[in-house]
Amino acid sequence: MKISILYLLIFLASFHVLYLFCSIEARKSSVLSRNKHQKHKHNKGKGKSGYHCPTPADEPLVPPHTYPKISNVLSFGAKGDGATDDSEALLEAWKAACKVEGATVEIPSGYKFLIKPITLQGPCLPQLVLQIDGTVLAPSKLSCWPKSGLFQWINFKWVQNFTIQGSGVVDGQGSEWWISSQPTTYKKTYRQHVQVPSMKPTAIRFYSSNSITVRDISIRSSPLVHLKFDDSVGVQVHNITISSPEDSPNTDGIHLQNSRDVQIHHSTIGCGDDCVSIQTGCSNIHVHHVNCGPGHGISLGGLGKDRSIACVSDIVVEDIIMQNTLFGARIKTWPGGIGSVKNITFSNIQVSDVKVPIVIDQYYCANNFHCKNETGAVAISNVQYSNILGTYSAQPIHLACSNDIPCHGVDLINIQMKPSPSNRGLQQALCSNSYGRIEAPLVPQSIDYCLRESNRQVPRLQRSHEKVCQRGY
Ligand SMILES: *[C@@H]1O[C@H](CO)[C@@H](O)[C@H](O)[C@H]1NC(C)=O
Ligand SMILES: *[C@@H]1O[C@H](CO)[C@@H](O)[C@H](O)[C@H]1NC(C)=O
Ligand SMILES: *[C@@H]1O[C@H](CO)[C@@H](O)[C@H](O)[C@H]1NC(C)=O
Ligand SMILES: *[C@@H]1O[C@H](CO)[C@@H](O)[C@H](O)[C@H]1NC(C)=O
Repeated sequence: MKISILYLLIFLASFHVLYLFCSIEARKSSVLSRNKHQKHKHNKGKGKSGYHCPTPADEPLVPPHTYPKISNVLSFGAKGDGATDDSEALLEAWKAACKVEGATVEIPSGYKFLIKPITLQGPCLPQLVLQIDGTVLAPSKLSCWPKSGLFQWINFKWVQNFTIQGSGVVDGQGSEWWISSQPTTYKKTYRQHVQVPSMKPTAIRFYSSNSITVRDISIRSSPLVHLKFDDSVGVQVHNITISSPEDSPNTDGIHLQNSRDVQIHHSTIGCGDDCVSIQTGCSNIHVHHVNCGPGHGISLGGLGKDRSIACVSDIVVEDIIMQNTLFGARIKTWPGGIGSVKNITFSNIQVSDVKVPIVIDQYYCANNFHCKNETGAVAISNVQYSNILGTYSAQPIHLACSNDIPCHGVDLINIQMKPSPSNRGLQQALCSNSYGRIEAPLVPQSIDYCLRESNRQVPRLQRSHEKVCQRGY
């Protein structure tokens, strides 16, 4: 009896010694890694040009021990001075808020937070809000942008039931990325100092996310796309402002891919490329009450590049004002693609000084690069253009449908457009291989002769393309 108690005591004592030893080791290694981290921090951070890239604040982070409903980035060590790298603070604030139902990550007004490429990952507890009232800045120097972060800047991954709101600004500071649009002499001398990578980051991306609202904020000057949703379901975007200069290349406003049940409304988008770009795998998209311009208008595609399969259906674009855009309501597909675009409505679109307001182009080849002579195309059917009014500066309508798979069910209803005063020569309406219905009034009159009556059967090739999409692409 006594002996067994003794054994028990020895056992407990040795356990205690082991525990002490382990915790000392743990503390040692954490001190070591902190030292390493600090050294590392002071070594890096100098760009090629001698410019000092932003570094995190020197004071150690002391995250709160309890998780409050509001995670203000300032209480997680953010400086908000526009010069210190506040990424770590944002990440910690996110992680804390993620564990609380109905929590808010607060980016307060009156501060500028410099954030490096970052992934804010879910799943989180429901009704998480990112309240942006201050300014969020991307690194302005190309040389400070980490090579691993070229795909996007702020990446929301696997989040659901989540809202971004506030009166703040998300600024991609993209001007160094747009250099390729500058005159060549400037480009050449400039490029010797700064290599512009061929991959450029999207500003805000939602990947594989559900039930997302983005409202009220401004997003500006992205290196590439401003706001992108891919593989996402249930998206509401409203009352936002997107802006970048007219000559910033490929800076789409909102870019949708493989996403459905999306509503974009009551927003203002002006940028260097498409105001809204709807790509393959999208369905049930409703875009309305959007002011678009400058930019390339609202586009479906380019679809079917490199003979890929593209499926887009059930899109409504209505109550839009387009000002000073290159195109208006456009569908573009690459030669040789497979799949289908169907049930598309563009209505109540007011165009002013739009180069070509109505476009279907099945011979789309961006900048004529890699354009091979392919047969076939993504099939296009049931596209309605109605109540398109205003002024155009080059051509009123351009329907270039393919020989192999003509466009079917194209309706032109109440189109009334005059040449804009600023036009530099006009082209006639162009329409080829398009079948459908017209309904007066149609101005200019050349639109009258645009469509062929479609009393023939849907061709076999088109049916087979639509079947590809029914199989679930
Ligand atoms: C989150 O879910 C709640 C309850 O279902 C709902 O009221 C709210 O609108 C959702 N928020 C978003 C952004 O989807
Ligand atoms: C739109 O957003 C701005 C902030 O950018 C806000 O002041 C305004 O109240 C919002 N409007 C609506 C209708 O929500
Ligand atoms: C066409 O799309 C609209 C909007 O998404 C949808 O309400 C309608 O049911 C679709 N029509 C067909 C025939 O699929
Ligand atoms: C494409 O190929 C077809 C058939 O081979 C030929 O008739 C046509 O001229 C070619 N078009 C171009 C632009 O090369």
